[in-house]
Amino acid sequence: MNSKDRAVMRVLSGERLYPPPVWMMRQAGRYLPEYRETRAKSKNFLDFCYNPDLATEVTLQPIRRYGFDASILFSDIFVVPDAIGYPVRFEEGRGPVLEPLSQNVLDRLEQGRAEAHLAPVIETVRRLRRELPEETTLLGFCGAPWTVACYSVAGHTTQDQTAARVGAYRDPALMQRFIDELIVASIAYLIRQLDAGADALQIFDTWAGVLDDAGFARWSIEPTRQIVAGVKAARPNARIIGFPKASSARLAAYVTGTGVDAVGLDWTAPDHIAQSIQKSVPIQGNLDPMRLVAGGAALDDGIAHVLEALGQGPLIFNLGHGVTPETDPAHVARMVERVRQG
Ligand code: CP3
Repeated sequence: MNSKDRAVMRVLSGERLYPPPVWMMRQAGRYLPEYRETRAKSKNFLDFCYNPDLATEVTLQPIRRYGFDASILFSDIFVVPDAIGYPVRFEEGRGPVLEPLSQNVLDRLEQGRAEAHLAPVIETVRRLRRELPEETTLLGFCGAPWTVACYSVAGHTTQDQTAARVGAYRDPALMQRFIDELIVASIAYLIRQLDAGADALQIFDTWAGVLDDAGFARWSIEPTRQIVAGVKAARPNARIIGFPKASSARLAAYVTGTGVDAVGLDWTAPDHIAQSIQKSVPIQGNLDPMRLVAGGAALDDGIAHVLEALGQGPLIFNLGHGVTPETDPAHVARMVERVRQG
């Protein structure tokens, strides 16, 4: 099957399919017993991401179990800073920890080391395209520069990214330098994912929603615009989904300003905004992942609502953010079944 004939790709080209194709952010993850078993084979999370055997296996697990319409490469947004030599580590129970941003760390970055460093991830993409069912769309991804940089200012996650915001106000030139390095590395990385067999790409801007207007324009829209432009200059047919979380009031500006082909919405986006954006680009989303945790009527009602509110236009059914570890895998099966009833 040609890439453009896969259901998710057809929607990304503006076609309405009903029932809509469905996948979930973080669909390979700790809610699945088979993921936890494979994950136990590698102590260090980044080593796990750089192991094509293990990364291919966990990417395929949710496809085997649920037959999602799209498969997302198993990796993490922090392989990009890691690849250019930015010190990153994952701490048990705490998540990603990046060294605090400074001139000194930036002076040590080397774009030239990224290609070899990321080769195992590209090998995973190649194997996935060979092993996935023909009709399954393969998505590559990267983190948006702002979201990656957020974790480098405090050195770890903080509520509302207060440290990253203060850092960007106090020393915008330093933040800009890091963002620019991430833009260069992300463009090269995304192009390689396409060349290895990814059908389309997603840019995760999980922390876009903490910014004010000026910050959103400079740190979310502009870097994403440059990445989209850089990838499309090299691969004009590339399809790119942007996911600026918690930014529904600024979606129109984001879509126009970045040039993304489709936009992911979180569950707080009001229907009228989603519906107005859907007139210009396909929408992906936006079931509250906590409805998936709750199950039962809360799940069924939430799915019915997304289908009713957004099913009239081009829609890729998804959650409004990643599936969480406490989710019952049976609820996911129910979700896929219910979406496919239309
Ligand atoms: O969606 C998928 O199935 C593909 C794989 C994927 C992961 N992370 C695997 C992962 C993707 C697309 C990501 C993106 C990512 N990573 C984002 C953007 C999207 C989002 O969810 O907001 C961000 C901000 C990260 C950073 C990150 N990675 C954090 C904050 C954490 C720790 C918190 C947590 O949930 O553990 C991770 C680790 C991580 N990335 C796990 C997985 C499955 C869990 C770690 C483990 O299995 O030990």
